[in-house]
Amino acid sequence: MNVLVFDTEEQIGIAAGYYMCGQVLQKPESVLGLATGSSPIRAYKHMISLYKQGAVDFSKVTTFNLDKYCRLDVKDKNSYHTFMYENLFNHINIPEENINFLNGNAWDLEKECKSYEDKIKAAGGIDIQLLGIGSNGHIAFNEPANAFQRWSHVVNLKESTIKDNSRFFDSVEDVPTQAVTMGIGSIMQAKRILIIALGEKKAKAIKQVIDGNVTPECPASILQFHKDVTLMLDKGAASLL
Ligand code: F6R
Repeated sequence: MNVLVFDTEEQIGIAAGYYMCGQVLQKPESVLGLATGSSPIRAYKHMISLYKQGAVDFSKVTTFNLDKYCRLDVKDKNSYHTFMYENLFNHINIPEENINFLNGNAWDLEKECKSYEDKIKAAGGIDIQLLGIGSNGHIAFNEPANAFQRWSHVVNLKESTIKDNSRFFDSVEDVPTQAVTMGIGSIMQAKRILIIALGEKKAKAIKQVIDGNVTPECPASILQFHKDVTLMLDKGAASLL
């Protein structure tokens, strides 16, 4: 694993933005796996800035987002759809038809998950997957469990995740309790993986990912078996290393 520790969140955003755009410069028709949450916001800001400077063109890029809450309107201010458009898609030139999300409001969620996997495969697989990490070691919404869940699936969110994410909602009761998420297998099939972790709250999970046992109790620990993982950490997230 390539572990990079930075002094400031701003520096991580710049480095991660270059990393993502570097992939697109190398391969204009790249397939990007994208995440929501606070960790990638500055990376998206820098990707927008490189686009506005004319340094990178996203017109041939395809994206797949990691996960989505169930039964939350796409227009809701807390939907991952709204997040991605506000923080990235509204500001760069990825064609609308190349943007993919799991539909957490699908009638048949199992079928939706299966067709998402088929779409990723048809697009040629993910070239680079951007990830945040939960304080409990989750990646996407693959929560700590007894076994790794391989492909996209429906998940009941853990109490700790609901609590962590309640900071975006009016109250903890408003946080959806279910989500649809790409699986561990879907993530592991990405050719390259970039994880951003900020703050001491993530330190324990990061330590486990880097030198702990590989266990579904810390889903991100599986990344030890991936051949191309880069972690961009601030000093807080790196504090137990
Ligand atoms: C979001 C996602 C989650 C977050 C994780 C960290 O699409 O898949 O796994 O990456 O919960 O969230 P932040 O970045 O808000 O700390």
